[in-house]
Amino acid sequence: MRGVLLGLGCLVAFSACTPSAAPPPPPAVQAAPAPARPVLGQAPPSDKAGALPVDADTGLVVAEGFELVKGQCTVCHSAKLVIQNRGDEEHWVGLIRWMQKTQGLWPFDEKTEHTIVSYLATHYGAEEGGRRPGLSARLMPPPAPRPLDDAQVQKGKAALGPLKQGLMGTLQKAIQAKGAAGAVDACHLDAPKIAQAASTTVKVGRASERLRNPGNTPPAWAAPLLRSLGQSRDVPYLTADLPGGGLGYVEPIAVGPLCLQCHGTDLAPGVQAELAAKYPDDHATGYAAGDFRGVFWAEVPAG
Ligand code: HEC
Ligand code: HEC
Repeated sequence: MRGVLLGLGCLVAFSACTPSAAPPPPPAVQAAPAPARPVLGQAPPSDKAGALPVDADTGLVVAEGFELVKGQCTVCHSAKLVIQNRGDEEHWVGLIRWMQKTQGLWPFDEKTEHTIVSYLATHYGAEEGGRRPGLSARLMPPPAPRPLDDAQVQKGKAALGPLKQGLMGTLQKAIQAKGAAGAVDACHLDAPKIAQAASTTVKVGRASERLRNPGNTPPAWAAPLLRSLGQSRDVPYLTADLPGGGLGYVEPIAVGPLCLQCHGTDLAPGVQAELAAKYPDDHATGYAAGDFRGVFWAEVPAG
């Protein structure tokens, strides 16, 4: 349990993970209070000391680093998203890492990143008064999970047994009988049926952020838990309270050596052909052993 809480602590702090899991320290880099923040489409108050000019196109403050930020940070979304956000250097580095990990943001060299981060922390720094900026729901870690001896947690965990055994049994038998390429077909046909058959009053399934079958998109409640488990190590499970007294339960799935035949980097030509034919939009290759692959999820009703 301590490991779980520590893991979540690390998520909050994004980088510097201290063993004490103490609340994140107050922003250290911010000596001066953030300058007056101009609102989009509105001229900054000219009478206020320190007010800086604002770029008409983007609404970004024109100061050292502006060109770089305008060039790098408005490619995928408007600058408005940047301007609405606040935080110290640690916060901005955390956001950049998150976009690099999950949103396709490219890496920066050290000097470039430093210029971008200090521009952001200076002009879009933590709110005055030391209040840390709120992360959007997407970046918030989920609340601490219910304890393992909770009845609904037990039910969710138990309900995953038949799903795991059904999938593993089918996979191993099919690989033995027909080889990996033939087994793709068996998974294709049987995996959805196995999940359906294993769903009783407790609904169960598999999900991933890199899907092979779009039918395995996580239920809405499970998406943030999936993301959290992907970002943390050694968290055995997470839970979410569902409306009406139900409980959502998720467990991480790791990639093992066997899985690499169909989810790794060096796929046999026969496997590649089968995957291309059945899953034209396959995102589930390129894994290495030990990688996080996704989750098993269970939806436990109230009572
Ligand atoms: C390769 C594309 C890409 C680039 C380049 C990019 N971002 Fe993002 N960023 C995203 C995506 C995708 C989201 C999520 C948007 C959404 O879901 O609305 C996002 C979200 C954000 C958010 C909102 C986070 C939240 O709390 O929800 C901020 C702030 C942000 N980006 C800042 C930046 C900054 C600063 C840069 C420049 C260093 C940058 N972005 C460059 C893709 C990018
Ligand atoms: C014989 C090829 C094969 C092997 C080996 C294999 N998989 Fe898959 N995997 C598939 C196919 C095909 C699907 C899509 C099934 C479907 O249509 O629901 C899939 C789907 C998944 C999914 C559901 C999410 C998604 O992307 O659709 C997970 C999770 C998963 N596999 C994990 C694993 C793990 C973990 C292993 C090793 C224990 C493994 N797989 C081994 C072929 C394989």
